[in-house]
Amino acid sequence: MKTHTLIVSSLALAISCSAIAVEGGNPKKGKHLYKKHCKACHSQSAQGGELTPMSKTMAQWDRFFQRNKHKAKPEVFQGLADKALLDIQQFLYNHAADSDQPATCG
Ligand code: HEC
Repeated sequence: MKTHTLIVSSLALAISCSAIAVEGGNPKKGKHLYKKHCKACHSQSAQGGELTPMSKTMAQWDRFFQRNKHKAKPEVFQGLADKALLDIQQFLYNHAADSDQPATCG
């Protein structure tokens, strides 16, 4: 019985992570891209410091991607396709501090 509940709830989590109402970006791809392109510099001991979706609010993430565009190191954003950036933005936005699912999939 317990195992069954566990399977059902993790299944629900997996579905909710991928079935969020998106605005053009693919958060599932975004998560993968984030790990690939951002994590190297954004972990506790790295130069960019620890960064998770929960580090910012939804509005802050939008502002970061629309205006700041990674000013600290512009070459990071310049090296990524618009679609990839949109996917990453969507992933971070969907799991922002004030989202329905703060960092649950981060
Ligand atoms: C080459 C290393 C590097 C990579 C790759 C990188 N960053 Fe950064 N990032 C930095 C550094 C360095 C800073 C400045 C940190 C500081 O100000 O202390 C920064 C700052 C930031 C900030 C601002 C932090 C704040 O406190 O507001 C955000 C948000 C951010 N990066 C997101 C990203 C995202 C998203 C990606 C992947 C697309 C990414 N970074 C990839 C090095 C990197």
